[in-house]
Amino acid sequence: MLIKVLGSAAGGGLPQINCNCRNCADARAGVPGLAPRTQSSVAVSGDGKSWVLLNASPDLRQQIAATPQLAPDPALGLRSSPIRAVVLTNGDLDHIAGLVSLREGLSLNLYASREVHAALDANGIFNALDRTLVPRVVLAGEEPIELRQGDVGLGLTLEAFPVPGKVALYLEDPAAGPAFGTRAGDTLGLKITDRTNGGAFYFIPGCAAVDDRLAARLRGAELVLFDGTLYTDDEMIAQELSAKTGKRMGHISMSGPEGSMAAFDKLDVRRRIFTHINNSNPALREGSPERRAVEAAGWEVACDGMEIGL
Ligand code: MLT
Ligand code: MN
Ligand code: ZN
Repeated sequence: MLIKVLGSAAGGGLPQINCNCRNCADARAGVPGLAPRTQSSVAVSGDGKSWVLLNASPDLRQQIAATPQLAPDPALGLRSSPIRAVVLTNGDLDHIAGLVSLREGLSLNLYASREVHAALDANGIFNALDRTLVPRVVLAGEEPIELRQGDVGLGLTLEAFPVPGKVALYLEDPAAGPAFGTRAGDTLGLKITDRTNGGAFYFIPGCAAVDDRLAARLRGAELVLFDGTLYTDDEMIAQELSAKTGKRMGHISMSGPEGSMAAFDKLDVRRRIFTHINNSNPALREGSPERRAVEAAGWEVACDGMEIGL
């Protein structure tokens, strides 16, 4: 199985179009050790020929252009695409907006929870993905299924399971109390297994907390790509970028006693990689104290184009 990180930034990317925070300004200026990043998405393939996207970011067109494996194969005629399926972890704009860039007559299965499909169905723009070419597949339970294009198996097994999270920002219902109307299927974690060699990894780019169920599931895993949005819960407030904490946005922080580094400490996960990293996060900067702390805790920080074989 080959995993390609297409985009490793949270919503807005690095640099974000309207942001002059230290990271955005330095990334824009080309300061070394702070590589620009597009918005969160991963591509995965069992055979190196057919690919599955895990989330479809607003930067998808640029990401495909930067990824030779995602180019149309000249042997397959004038028009084709190796992208055979898309799996969505939630309905956030940074994970669904790229769907409209896949409207060029591609044939692929679109996997998402009932809740996320309902959000897509409620927005007519996604009808641009013709349902006869792009069947909607509802991820209803947690049992393993083989990912497919139409009826054709792609050699990868998917297990999708709810994780603590929050309903997409544009769907928040302020009248619904502190959870804004969040339901269990609003945020999924994914486990992908190669049906040929058994290699497996978890992709969890949005997660509000590592509860006992999630901890039990991840214990002993070979590889986890995990929500690295913020380093500290109040960093956007401290940098005067926003009034929101990470908790308010449905994201666990890297640091602190309730953070992901502490939560993973005893889980014996062999390889841990942060992705979906917000531009405010000081761990983006190579050599920063926060980056050193992340690395000392056994974590890597994803960058665009990162390739992992399992
Ligand atoms: C998030 O990860 O919290 C969302 O992408 C925020 C947003 O939709 O802007
Ligand atoms: Mn996001
Ligand atoms: Zn910024």
